[in-house]
Amino acid sequence: MAGFDILVLNGPNLGYIGKRQPEIYGSQGMDQVPALVRELMGEKANDVRLSFFQTNSEGGLIDRLEQARNHGVHGIVFNAGAYTHTSLALADCLAWITIPCVEVHLSNIWARTDEPLRQRSYIGSRCVGVVAGFGLLSYALAVQSLWRLLSEKQTI
Ligand code: DQA
Repeated sequence: MAGFDILVLNGPNLGYIGKRQPEIYGSQGMDQVPALVRELMGEKANDVRLSFFQTNSEGGLIDRLEQARNHGVHGIVFNAGAYTHTSLALADCLAWITIPCVEVHLSNIWARTDEPLRQRSYIGSRCVGVVAGFGLLSYALAVQSLWRLLSEKQTI
């Protein structure tokens, strides 16, 4: 089938985006992402099939990443939440499943100087890129970037 399957994967405490600490993470819910993708990509949005998954568990994220590999998913947009800063296990998984992954954050983790631990990412080096600090738009920008990357690969 033409087009690309992109998994939007959210880790712990991201099940209530829009309600959780809106002063940091914004007040829009994940259900707004498809509209933002369409706004950015226009007609090209028809070339991406988005699926969404959220779990609070580290093992659950790994299981879903493995499943994505087995099902031939083309790209991943991944907000690992706090596991970003702690999880060698997620980094190990991304290292071998070889699906292009964009790390995403609602907040700009590098600007959170009051919490230096948040400025470190274990998974970033396993990703093709990082988008952070634009709220929900970070997800849409990541989808657009992945689409572009995957399209370029296809024409090589
Ligand atoms: C977050 C940043 C993380 O530090 C935090 O633990 C989250 C959300 C973000 O999207 O800004 O849960 O990943």
